[in-house]
Amino acid sequence: MTDSRRPGLFLSFEGMDGSGKTTQMRRLIERLRAEGYDLLETAEPGGTPIGLQIRRILLDSANSALASRAELLLYFACRAQNVAEWIRPALREGRIVVSDRFTDSTLAYQGAGRGLDPAAILTLHDLACQEVGPDLTLYLDIDRELGLSRARARNAERAAAAQPDETRIDDEAAEFHDRVRAAYAGLCRQHPERILRIDAAQPIDAVTQDIWSAVERHIAAHSLRKASAHV
Ligand code: TYD
Repeated sequence: MTDSRRPGLFLSFEGMDGSGKTTQMRRLIERLRAEGYDLLETAEPGGTPIGLQIRRILLDSANSALASRAELLLYFACRAQNVAEWIRPALREGRIVVSDRFTDSTLAYQGAGRGLDPAAILTLHDLACQEVGPDLTLYLDIDRELGLSRARARNAERAAAAQPDETRIDDEAAEFHDRVRAAYAGLCRQHPERILRIDAAQPIDAVTQDIWSAVERHIAAHSLRKASAHV
């Protein structure tokens, strides 16, 4: 979705719970900063202060009454705010944007997972994002059992550390996770030019290397300058 009016580069991370997405995103951000790139780090749901308030509603396991369509609209409310307040301005300034999840998550979780109409999701995407979308999506693919066992271990750690409960979606049934993963496979087939599937069962450093190779190619193709090059 490269737009010539946007000199920046938009990278998104996707993957099921327990795929190692957060660790890999951290590593990429540290490397980009160390290399002198100016970047904006954001997340969905979350990012902006308003987005973080929406995130609390979405991920609180006390909100089991949240209707699927209300959930869908909240994800897009969060995204519209993220695009307007943070992402579009950053891209205009030529920065690299790294987002933990974006609309592919909505297609996978609300579309395939909850059975909502993908066409309606894409219409909401157009409304919320106004042509802003990732240039490169790094999808960390993980087998359900391995992913869930990692996610459960993480949730137990959060509970032990008395951090807020964010397990509402992690608690879904196995079939839900299988539908989500199949949807990601479908998105990879549909958008081979944008989405890179990475085998997240590989050793952690091999995953990091795959990600860096792809990002380096995109940086070169976008002729991005390092922030330090301006001074
Ligand atoms: P998050 O805290 O980002 O954890 P992780 O990405 O490490 O799993 O959790 C976000 C949860 O929200 C995750 O279970 C996927 C879900 N989600 C959706 O269902 N739809 C969406 O559009 C997005 C962005 C996330």
